[in-house]
Amino acid sequence: MTLGFSDVHFSYPALSVPALTGATLRFAAGEAVALVGRNGSGKSTLMLLANGILRPGQGAVTLDGQAVRYDRRGLLDLRSQVGVVFQNPEEQLFSASVYQDLSLGPLNLGFSSVEARERVLHAAGRCDLLNLLDRPTHALSGGEKARAALAGVLAMGPRFLFADELTNSLDPWMRANVLEIFADLLADGCTVVLATHDHALAASWAQRAVWLDAGRVRADGPADVVLTALRQQLPPAFSHRRQTADARPPAAVSAGLNEVPL
Ligand SMILES: Nc1ncnc2c1ncn2[C@@H]1O[C@H](COP(=O)(O)OP(=O)(O)OP(=O)(O)O)[C@@H](O)[C@H]1O
Ligand SMILES: [Mg+2]
Repeated sequence: MTLGFSDVHFSYPALSVPALTGATLRFAAGEAVALVGRNGSGKSTLMLLANGILRPGQGAVTLDGQAVRYDRRGLLDLRSQVGVVFQNPEEQLFSASVYQDLSLGPLNLGFSSVEARERVLHAAGRCDLLNLLDRPTHALSGGEKARAALAGVLAMGPRFLFADELTNSLDPWMRANVLEIFADLLADGCTVVLATHDHALAASWAQRAVWLDAGRVRADGPADVVLTALRQQLPPAFSHRRQTADARPPAAVSAGLNEVPL
């Protein structure tokens, strides 16, 4: 199964500058991808396009080569395969209790309440939420909200998981737990795309990195190569510190390949 972006453009109604300009990308089964780039470069927008919350102004999002249909049936099909954990989990949680919130997705996909319960318990167990299922969602800590948002997506059994800066609010134990969940998903052939500003995490976890810059895909390739190219763009003090700690960039990167897909 593949998820594609074919020359996707997107502009928010109130904005004169497009948030995404001609993004062409293909995500294959089982890939661990880091999505990197400066604030406002279009990472969250790309994620919201991936599961049809936003619709391209031009171009197409495709699942196995077929353009997504934006009617109820088409969106249900897409969302049964593609899950997004929002950058701000508050926007994702709106039910009276964590249990209700986690069961919404499976019920919407047409699972019976018994099947939905099984999925919820499994996902809650994976995200260490079993003791919080009766809690109102507004009465969770930031990291607990992030875990609840992830569990809600896992309960839907996605083949593509887009996690928007999910690791930011997590303590080191939960972060390790989430990386284990990612590893299980990847071993199952799922694709995991993590938007992050944590370049060390991206370098150690991802095989591939996509670098967005002002709404364009500036580089797409092996994570170490893309992140080395990105590091060259960091402010001098920071990149100096980094360069003394790390090896020199590969010759291909210093030769300017960072301006084209890698
Ligand atoms: N709801 C919105 N309405 C109008 N403009 C928006 C909205 N959301 C984002 N934008 C704009 O779209 C562009 C891309 O934003 P986006 O949230 O995708 O960036 P990002 O790469 O996720 O940034 P960050 O690292 O800060 O999360 C930015 O210029 C941003 O100001
Ligand atoms: Mg964002």
